[in-house]
Amino acid sequence: MSSPKVIRWGILATGVIAVTFTKDLLVDPTTRGVTSIKHTVVAAASSSSVSRAESFLRRVGAPASARAYDSYQDLIADPDVDIIYIATPHSHHYQNAMHCLEAGKNVLCEKPFTVNAEQARLLVNMAKEKGCFLMEALWTRYFPLAAYVREILSSGRLGTLVRVMTDCNIATNPEKSFKDGKHRMVNSELAGGALLDLGVYSLTWPFLALYDTQPRETRKPPKVLAAMTKYPPTFCADETTTMVLTFPRNESAGGDAHAIATTSIRLETSPASDPNPPASVRIQGTLGEIQLFPCAHNPTHSKLVLWDGTVEEKPWPQPGPGKGSGWFNGFGDSINAEGEGQGMFWEADEAGFALCEGRKEGKYLGLEETVLIMEVMDETRRQGELRYPEKIETTKFPVQL
Ligand SMILES: NC(=O)c1ccc[n+]([C@@H]2O[C@H](COP(=O)([O-])OP(=O)(O)OC[C@H]3O[C@@H](n4cnc5c(N)ncnc54)[C@H](OP(=O)(O)O)[C@@H]3O)[C@@H](O)[C@H]2O)c1
Repeated sequence: MSSPKVIRWGILATGVIAVTFTKDLLVDPTTRGVTSIKHTVVAAASSSSVSRAESFLRRVGAPASARAYDSYQDLIADPDVDIIYIATPHSHHYQNAMHCLEAGKNVLCEKPFTVNAEQARLLVNMAKEKGCFLMEALWTRYFPLAAYVREILSSGRLGTLVRVMTDCNIATNPEKSFKDGKHRMVNSELAGGALLDLGVYSLTWPFLALYDTQPRETRKPPKVLAAMTKYPPTFCADETTTMVLTFPRNESAGGDAHAIATTSIRLETSPASDPNPPASVRIQGTLGEIQLFPCAHNPTHSKLVLWDGTVEEKPWPQPGPGKGSGWFNGFGDSINAEGEGQGMFWEADEAGFALCEGRKEGKYLGLEETVLIMEVMDETRRQGELRYPEKIETTKFPVQL
């Protein structure tokens, strides 16, 4: 058996998600049955200080040889880096990713990909020009659970797909949690609000079910009808947003299909005290539906319910080093069981496979679809009259943020 190809990562930014992702990245891939690649971290950069980059590398358990930089440019210039993971706030993705691509570096960029669709298009063009791999880190698309949902949809067990309902929230009291207004959830300078941060997950499942299942040559963008309520202290970020989408489809394929995608920074899909919480995702067809729990961005449980009485429930635990390893991961303050990963390694594996195969985009969320989803969010913001400061909406490059 040939030895696994080592993918050499550079980590750009050292915030909350960078820690979670990089810890997952460094889990031995054989714990999830992956033997053809291995990941390593050769460098990390912080825009604030070298000591922050150093403590990040220690915290995630990076190899002692990993280099710490106090500038993103130094990381981008590092010849040993095969691919850069961008984990800055979304306001910064366009500028950061453009710097990487211009220098010929492959990029995995956190979600949402950019602030608007035009920025996304320009990144795609630059990636093509430079022959680089580029992928939105929409981790949920690469879960085994997502593969299972795709299988159920293509099996025809749900009949003709008619409707998708999705909800993604963070259930907080924003005036309390984000009192100073600086957090990226409410800060317009960081493209704050529910839509870009969470709504991108609410859009994930309608696209997976109602767009990806149509023939590439004939599928068309959905029509969008949006309602948006702004966050009252500033009115510069959206607090609660609802999108009604119509996916055009031939009469022979069942006619137009609908989706309702909702998102809020204040609400929850149901209160934590609810003994029987509802699904956050429901994909409905003429013969039954598939439901996902508990949340649209990180579902861990599926339930297939058919009109003929069939009910199939499945847990989807994340693999990792396992019990007794003394290793923990999670997001922010929420820590998973000992040895259980967060599920961010699946997207990293996909990027690694693509580099080995010479593919330039992700398999389950291509760049055309990433741009289209940004267009849907542009249209939603247009209807909701939400525009961010020009310096982060701009397509000018370079701009110092
Ligand atoms: N996939 C997921 O599950 C998931 C979860 C959460 C967030 N995200 C996405 O990941 C991105 C980062 O989110 P996060 O929660 O990690 O944010 P965060 O904790 O605030 O970290 C962002 C990092 O970006 C760097 N940065 C550079 N310029 C900045 C600026 N002007 N303001 C703030 N930070 C700046 C900082 O790192 P340095 O000081 O080291 O440069 C900072 O630590 C967002 O786009 C978000 O949507 C994804």
